[in-house]
Amino acid sequence: MSAAVIDGKSEAAKVVAEVTSQTAKLIADTGIVPGIAVVIVGEDPASQVYVRSKGKRALECGFHSVTHKLPEDTSEETLLALVDELNNDEVIHGILVQLPLPDHIDEGKIIQAVSPDKDVDGFHFINVGKLGTGELATAFVPCTPAGSMVLLRQALGKQDFSGLNAVVVGRSNIVGKPIANLLLGANATVTIAHSRTKDLPSVTRGADILVAAVGRSQMIKGDWVKPGAVVIDVGINRIPAPEKGEGKTRLVGDVDYDECAEAASAITPVPGGVGPMTIAMLMATTLIAACRKAGVEPPAF
Ligand code: GUN
Repeated sequence: MSAAVIDGKSEAAKVVAEVTSQTAKLIADTGIVPGIAVVIVGEDPASQVYVRSKGKRALECGFHSVTHKLPEDTSEETLLALVDELNNDEVIHGILVQLPLPDHIDEGKIIQAVSPDKDVDGFHFINVGKLGTGELATAFVPCTPAGSMVLLRQALGKQDFSGLNAVVVGRSNIVGKPIANLLLGANATVTIAHSRTKDLPSVTRGADILVAAVGRSQMIKGDWVKPGAVVIDVGINRIPAPEKGEGKTRLVGDVDYDECAEAASAITPVPGGVGPMTIAMLMATTLIAACRKAGVEPPAF
């Protein structure tokens, strides 16, 4: 079998188009313009690229968008004061503090300082708890897991995963745990596997849905995949690519793509799979935040 390639770029474009048209409708109906604030501390090059893309996409959607760029030596107190200001700013509906933060700042403290009603990352304990208890109507769901679910629903052609075995490899708070909860919410039978799991290949071989979110390049091999499984690769790893020239690199996922594409029925590529969905879902979540604030039923994504 040779897998269908799940096109994250085109799915993300569909989400952004829907956000754009629903934003125009919200503005026409209520005068409320969705507002997003992105905060970045320091000069991490990858974070700078992400933050620029988020700001650009927000403007394309018709949002009010502000970016706060703070120097590396910003104190925790200053950052907390900015978060407080944004929590109280009427024109801002979504706040995202780009991670990682410099070591002298307590990341957990900043995450919990963001108002749960504006926590478009879905990292606040209130939103984590709502996702864990199935209160999805008022929760904010982290963007990468939410985007992965959009791709899975599209690949499987259904919303209900009853009878399907899902294996999530990775147990991070940002991806592994929330995606496991979303899969459970869609009635899949879910296993969370991780670095301490015994005989990982035998566990992944039972998966109809295999989600890789471990952060280890090309770890999942072809013979770890059940024939016909749908494979979602959340990993983004940079590895040396001497074939492209000295010192060159390329991006790969947590899945050995060429091998796994032989076994799977559908698979996300890296880049161009889950990656583009993350920013698209951030836009969707910000629109949802603005709709909730306006007392308008938000669109479903
Ligand atoms: N850094 C990498 N991914 C993310 C994300 O989803 N949210 C935030 N805030 N920072 C990140």
